[in-house]
Amino acid sequence: MKRIAIFASGNGSNAENLIAQLGEKEGCSFPIIVCDNLKAGVWERAKKLGVRCVHFSRTELAEGGAVCELLKKEGIDLIVLAGFLGKISGPLLEQFGGHIVNIHPALLPRFGGKGMYGHHVHEAVLAHNERFSGITIHFVDAEYDHGATICQVTCPVYPEIDTPDTLANRIHRLEHIYFPIVVRDLVQRME
Ligand code: GRF
Repeated sequence: MKRIAIFASGNGSNAENLIAQLGEKEGCSFPIIVCDNLKAGVWERAKKLGVRCVHFSRTELAEGGAVCELLKKEGIDLIVLAGFLGKISGPLLEQFGGHIVNIHPALLPRFGGKGMYGHHVHEAVLAHNERFSGITIHFVDAEYDHGATICQVTCPVYPEIDTPDTLANRIHRLEHIYFPIVVRDLVQRME
């Protein structure tokens, strides 16, 4: 059984979906959610799911000591960033490097990096008249949206009729299908 910590900063639909879809049968348990935003929707979802949600400030996460200690105590094998806006660095990256994955709502390396999150991504895709967008699931390194790609899935963009919201909804649907599949496969390949 692999123990997975989810890091989230926002709504938390991916966090909830992962926890709902992956259980004992898939070799996954989710003892903890780490959140850097006290106003995030993920708190309500965690409560509903009965999963402990813990707050760390951006500074605490950058320093890394306390969060690493908690993750070690919880026996965490894998960190999944699901809408987490903070940067992973320092001790966190040193201790869990290679065992941290992120999901990004576009086809990296395009439309990624600092400031490219949430509706900013979809607005940029539409402003460039892209015909395709999609999701990228990748390992995390010291740069935003940069580590090795694990999986990309595309979807169409309709620049004439799409709004950032319609595109975001289409991409969320892809995320909810493919993120659990990729996390399950990773877990099964882990020693
Ligand atoms: C997703 O689009 C994900 O790709 C991005 O942040 C969003 C999080 O959505 N990193 P939610 O909070 O899981 O609903």
